[in-house]
Amino acid sequence: MKTIGVLTSGGDAPGMNAAIRAVVRYGIHLGMTVYGVERGFAGLIEGKFNHMQLRSVADIIHRGGTILKTARCEDFKTKAGQEKGVAQLKNHGIEGLIVIGGDGSFMGARALSNLGFPAVGIPGTIDNDLGYTDYTLGFDTACNTVLNAVNNLRDTMTSHERVSIIEVMGRNCGDIALYSGLCGGAEIIMIPENPPDLDEICEKMLASKQRGKLSGIIVLAEGAGRADEVSAQIAARTGMSCRSTVLGHIQRGGNPGMQDRYLGTNFGVYAVKLLQQGIGNRIIGIKNGQFFDMDIIEGCAVKRKFNKQLYDMAEVVAK
Ligand code: ADP
Ligand code: F6P
Repeated sequence: MKTIGVLTSGGDAPGMNAAIRAVVRYGIHLGMTVYGVERGFAGLIEGKFNHMQLRSVADIIHRGGTILKTARCEDFKTKAGQEKGVAQLKNHGIEGLIVIGGDGSFMGARALSNLGFPAVGIPGTIDNDLGYTDYTLGFDTACNTVLNAVNNLRDTMTSHERVSIIEVMGRNCGDIALYSGLCGGAEIIMIPENPPDLDEICEKMLASKQRGKLSGIIVLAEGAGRADEVSAQIAARTGMSCRSTVLGHIQRGGNPGMQDRYLGTNFGVYAVKLLQQGIGNRIIGIKNGQFFDMDIIEGCAVKRKFNKQLYDMAEVVAK
């Protein structure tokens, strides 16, 4: 392939810019022409294509968000929308497309491949909710953002002898809560993979109070409940003073850390190599430190495994 495109789709994630930079620069290194598509599949349908140069991606490796912008586009779920997208790609002489996003975006990439247009997916979502890969782009940075918030909240909770209930993102996946809860020393981690039992949680909080621990951190995944409701319930049942915080979109921004720049760069280069060989309908991942690619449908069908061992470990060490 001589001409390729790249777009970002769904929720943005820190590290997407590192991936875009790698796609553009590695593509140009191989003698390719690279187009950046604005606003995900919406921009694809509208033909919002920018011819990228080496300098188009200067000074972005350290930035959160995505310079290409992103969108959620209902039209692209229809055959007519997908055909329009393929027509726009062909009009620009583009032969292959790299889609950076989550499993929804991968279905878009799959639809293009079904229409005979090679597309490759890079896992970009803070949620870490894709079973086929150990990590997605943005997850590590989002966890570090949560950790900073946990540190700050711990200071004030300790001073006031309060319990902090911190609601974090992740949709139906509890990984952001699990990893940041473990590393932030949370007494309780509430995740959808292990549905929380409030009676049990209150018993633990009271036992911990009896051991002399007068403040606490509870990290709650958004898929497992609402912070204000959990806070009210725990306060009513234990008599402890509780405060709820919803971290929200602050978790989606910020400078990507080392892991997300590393993943973004490697994923980007890997994707270009696949397209160069004319290979589409693949998604890229990392397993046990090794980068690999697999069929989109097979990859998306891999069920996520709940890391119960990690969850139990967090519980034991946060006494
Ligand atoms: P994510 O990629 O983060 O999972 P979404 O689920 O919102 O985010 O999907 C992003 C976009 O991918 C959607 O707005 C739509 O344009 C496209 N998409 C999602 N599902 C499909 C599908 N089944 N077929 C084609 N495109 C899809
Ligand atoms: O998928 C990423 C994510 O940030 C989820 O964790 C969250 O539930 C959702 O997107 C929020 O979506 P929006 O940006 O549309 O509010």
